[in-house]
Amino acid sequence: MPDRLDRKPVRLDPRLPWLARTRRFLSPMAGVTDRPFRTVCRRFGADIGFCEFVSATGLTYGGEGSWKLVDTDGEQGLVGVQIFGSDPEHMGQAARLLMDHQMDVLDINFGCPVKKVVRKCGGSALLADVPLLERIVRAVVGASTVPVTAKIRTGWDEDSVNYREVGLLLQELGLPWVTLHGRTRAQLYTGEADWDRIADLVATLDIPVIGNGDVTDGQSYARLVRHTRCHGVMVARGAIGNPWLFAQMRAVDEGTAYDPPTFAAMCEVLIEHIRGEVAAKGERIGSQTVRKHVARCFKGRPGAAHLRKAVFAEDTSEGMIAVIAAAAARGEPALAGEAGRDG
Ligand SMILES: Cc1cc2nc3c(=O)[nH]c(=O)nc-3n(C[C@H](O)[C@H](O)[C@H](O)COP(=O)(O)O)c2cc1C
Repeated sequence: MPDRLDRKPVRLDPRLPWLARTRRFLSPMAGVTDRPFRTVCRRFGADIGFCEFVSATGLTYGGEGSWKLVDTDGEQGLVGVQIFGSDPEHMGQAARLLMDHQMDVLDINFGCPVKKVVRKCGGSALLADVPLLERIVRAVVGASTVPVTAKIRTGWDEDSVNYREVGLLLQELGLPWVTLHGRTRAQLYTGEADWDRIADLVATLDIPVIGNGDVTDGQSYARLVRHTRCHGVMVARGAIGNPWLFAQMRAVDEGTAYDPPTFAAMCEVLIEHIRGEVAAKGERIGSQTVRKHVARCFKGRPGAAHLRKAVFAEDTSEGMIAVIAAAAARGEPALAGEAGRDG
């Protein structure tokens, strides 16, 4: 398939023969990108999915909760595991222990802004301590038998923007790609992702840069690639309740028209997703987990708020499924008399 978008020619790691055609990345998201969701996203065009980040210390101490997050064995399609931590020894040890599990790459999180993670000097805090960041990367690369990648932010804050320095270091350390979320840690998720900085890193590095931040549809995907010439794009929030985002991106890549799903088809996918979550995590946690997707799935359609409320009023997954199936049969979220109310 010829490339419809102009991307910078890059140095591709021979260990990753699939990287040349890998464009659409499902970003790691805590509490969201579990195996059932990764599977749904792949079906609509995600080239690769990532597990939510997992604590290296948790893995090292054999924490059951941590190991449960590494749910990749037997998975069909490309998958990455992501770890975070500030202790090079734990990071190396976690990488070694992880090698018994299926994964195509092992990603290091240098972007998480959450206080609980940053307080222990993990995630984005490492952008403010580049020597420690380097020791961590070396420890993980030394212990891993799969290629190691990293996901960074533009810097700790506006006074210490250092994505170039960090990107060049990661390239020198042999990483096959770097993902850049175009915000500083101080910005958390506010404001707009700075795509100029992504473009600058693309221009600076020889290896692929994966751009991340604020892609929510086919248009914003095309805009980000045109603006930066990045090799691939990671999407996070825009995919919650909306795995069709990947189909929109794929349509852009293939130069075809995007054919949006009918409401009934969306319901069918959501039902399948609920069943997948329950099969993977059990009734209680599975039906709880899928709520984030239900909350966003029908957004903007008349009657969406009503449908959401009706689904959330159900205690069991079968109850939720029955409400969604009835809406699918009606062909719209709204009950009679509810049309016109907006989600
Ligand atoms: C609920 C949630 C959980 C996240 N968890 C992770 C994570 O585990 N690892 C990570 O690198 N980034 C995590 N992120 C950040 C996203 O992967 C992504 O970098 C950020 O949301 C910007 O992309 P977007 O504009 O497409 O959402 C998370 C974001 C959200 C909203």
